Amino acid sequence: MRNVIISGASRGLGLGIATRLAADGFRIIVLARKSSPALEAAISAAGDGRMYFHPADLADVDQIAGHVRHIKTEFGPIYGLVNNAAGSAEGLLTSLSQAQIEALVRLNTVSPMLLTKYALRAMIQQKAGRIVNMASIVASTGSVGLSVYGATKAAMIGFTRSLARDVGKLGITVNAVAPGFAATELTGALDEAQRAQIARRSAMGQLIEPQDVAGVVAFLMSDDASRITGSVITVDAGATA
Ligand SMILES: NC(=O)c1ccc[n+]([C@@H]2O[C@H](COP(=O)([O-])OP(=O)(O)OC[C@H]3O[C@@H](n4cnc5c(N)ncnc54)[C@H](OP(=O)(O)O)[C@@H]3O)[C@@H](O)[C@H]2O)c1
Repeated sequence: MRNVIISGASRGLGLGIATRLAADGFRIIVLARKSSPALEAAISAAGDGRMYFHPADLADVDQIAGHVRHIKTEFGPIYGLVNNAAGSAEGLLTSLSQAQIEALVRLNTVSPMLLTKYALRAMIQQKAGRIVNMASIVASTGSVGLSVYGATKAAMIGFTRSLARDVGKLGITVNAVAPGFAATELTGALDEAQRAQIARRSAMGQLIEPQDVAGVVAFLMSDDASRITGSVITVDAGATA
C-alpha cells in the first residue's frame, strides 16, 4: 500500500484530503499537534490499517527529520506528501509582532520545505513520488490583512515550480493547489455576511467545500497525473475567473 503523509489533516481541508485518499487506497499518516473527534471518526470509518495519526508540532522545525524517520521506520517507503498544515495571522503588517511574523513564516514555509526535504530522500530511493503543496488564491490576488500569510502561500508556489525542475527526472512530481475560501477554522474570523459576499463574487456564487480540494489532490496522486508537474491548480468556484 502506498504511504501518503498529510500535514494538518486533523480538521478542515486536510481531513477532507485524508478521507478521500484513504478511500482511494492509500495508507494515510496524518500529522497535527493533536487529534480531533472528526479525525478519530475518519480513522475508524476508513478501516484497519488505512489511516494513522502521528502527533507533531511542525513549528518545532528541529524535530521534523525525526518525525519523518519515525514514519519511515514504522510504515516503510513514502510515496506522497501533502503539505497542508498552515496558520494565519490576520491584521495590518504594522500590527503584527516580529515574533508573529517569524512564527507564521516558519510554520507555513520553512516547515513544509523541511518535511519535503526529508520525505524526498525516501522518494528518490524509490524513483517515484508525489508532492502536493497547499497554496491559496491569496498568493496571486492579495487580500486585506493577509500580507504575511499571502507571502507564505506565494512562497509555496515558487518552491513548487523550482523543486519540480529538480526532481522531475527522478520520477517525482511536485504540484500546488490554490484553493479559494472554504469555511474552516482558518477562516473562522469571517462572519456570515463576509462569507456570503465572497460567495456572491465568485463565478458560481458559492464557497468551495473540502471535498473539492480533496478531489484535485486525489487526481494529482493518481496515475492519470503522472506527467503533471510544476502546476498550480486553482479550486475556487470561479472566485478569480
Ligand atoms: N480554508 C480556506 O479558505 C483556505 C483557502 C486557501 C488555502 N487554504 C490552505 O489550506 C490548508 C488547510 O487550511 P484549513 O482551512 O483546512 O486550516 P485549518 O482548518 O485551520 O486546519 C489546519 C490544520 O493544520 C494543523 N496545524 C496547525 N498548526 C500546526 C502545527 N504547528 N503543527 C502541526 N499541525 C498544525 C491543525 O491541527 P492542530 O491545530 O491540531 O495542530 C489542522 O489540522 C492551509 O495550507 C491553508 O493555507 C485554506
